[in-house]
Amino acid sequence: MRISVVGLGYVGAVCSACFANEGHEVIGMDIDAVKVDLINQGKAPIVEKDLEDYISRNVKARRLRATTDLKEAIDNSDITIISVGTPSKPNGDIDLKYIKEAAKAIGEKLKEKDAFHIVSMRSTVLPGTGKNVVIPIIEEISGKKAGVDFGYVSNPEFLREGTAIWDFYNPPKTVVGATDERSYKTFRELYSFLKAPYFEVEIEVAEMIKYADNSWHATKVTFANEIGMICKKLGIDSHKVMDVFCADTKLNISTYYLKPGFAFGGSCLPKDVRAITYKAKSLDENTPLLNSLMPSNEYQIKRVYNEFIKPLKSRKIAVLGLSFKPNTDDLRESPVLELTELLIGKGYKVSIYDPNVLKAKEDGANKALLENELWHINERLSNNLDKVIQENDIILIGNGSKEFQNIPQKYTDKYIIDLMRVTNQPSKNNYIGIAW
Ligand SMILES: NC(=O)c1ccc[n+]([C@@H]2O[C@H](COP(=O)([O-])OP(=O)(O)OC[C@H]3O[C@@H](n4cnc5c(N)ncnc54)[C@H](O)[C@@H]3O)[C@@H](O)[C@H]2O)c1
Repeated sequence: MRISVVGLGYVGAVCSACFANEGHEVIGMDIDAVKVDLINQGKAPIVEKDLEDYISRNVKARRLRATTDLKEAIDNSDITIISVGTPSKPNGDIDLKYIKEAAKAIGEKLKEKDAFHIVSMRSTVLPGTGKNVVIPIIEEISGKKAGVDFGYVSNPEFLREGTAIWDFYNPPKTVVGATDERSYKTFRELYSFLKAPYFEVEIEVAEMIKYADNSWHATKVTFANEIGMICKKLGIDSHKVMDVFCADTKLNISTYYLKPGFAFGGSCLPKDVRAITYKAKSLDENTPLLNSLMPSNEYQIKRVYNEFIKPLKSRKIAVLGLSFKPNTDDLRESPVLELTELLIGKGYKVSIYDPNVLKAKEDGANKALLENELWHINERLSNNLDKVIQENDIILIGNGSKEFQNIPQKYTDKYIIDLMRVTNQPSKNNYIGIAW
């Protein structure tokens, strides 16, 4: 394929050299003439393992060259990869000045080109940047339509400096979001040499994945550091702790606990987070990430009330599933119980359906708790799911019990607030998913 790469920094230089190495005809373009000259001399514009070798071999083989002339780059390619910088503004926002300049320049050159051209965003940009910033600029200046006259692709970069070439050939995944099938197909071919998992998604999903990744990586580093700080104060070898922690691929290094939903609860997580953060404090150690967990969790509960329940006109609500997960009657630190109490306190007419809690009450276990401490819950418990739903306007699905799964489809005349995503659908009409 004929590829141009706009921006020859860490990302652009590496992907130019590697795509050329895969037999493609690559023209790198940068406004920095020094980088352009270096590449044309077969030298690396940045320090990166093996890069100079890749550049010099491919420049010699005439598969790679560089220019400061964007028209030359666009005219001699069918795909343009944007890899300019996206630094932070002083307020933390992403600075899109290089992206906008590149998009304007590309729009001008595309105006003069008849053939279908694909513009691919390799730089990290916030969700919405493609559809709301880059595509409109190119469309306005070129007079062409995205998805019809030119394709737009979001294809985030996952390489790490220092191992960038190895990462190019062994990425954790390849993610492609595009405006049109032709662009999806071209990228499928472009990446056909890779064995990595390949995901075709919407443009905004592709953009967001990069931020989910990097926020997660930052969270992992910070988490490990805070555990290390506590361990050091306690005279414990933190690497031994984390080696065993990482060996648990069921609950720790796994997909478990990684689906957006409602607050955590139960008899262990809140209690143990409180205990370890108290311990850190008593050791005069500062653990801001761990300290943030309980306030963030409490915010989840208030958020569901303020954002989703409060704006609805009705004050009649059915709570389905009170315990923190299905198949248990354990009400200890159930966030749904906390939300229910908040609603009762605010004067809502609340009905509750939870067969496990009801059964525990009838069988004796939890009887005393419900009668003496949770009497305000006890008097609202019902064993008739249909009646509880019919009598109320808002249905709050509190856990992922199987019998709640068809409720969003069945009761379209009710407001359904789903804390669990019991049905695989985004928010629509009266169905409100709390994070989807
Ligand atoms: N560096 C990494 O490890 C890495 C990894 C993944 C993603 N990213 C993302 O990739 C993007 C690029 O990062 P980088 O580290 O390669 O940046 P960089 O600053 O090293 O390189 C950017 C290049 O773009 C050039 N440029 C700026 N405006 C231009 C224009 N209008 N036309 C042509 N060239 C122009 C600059 O001269 C510079 O050479 C960023 O969004 C970054 O977040 C970087």
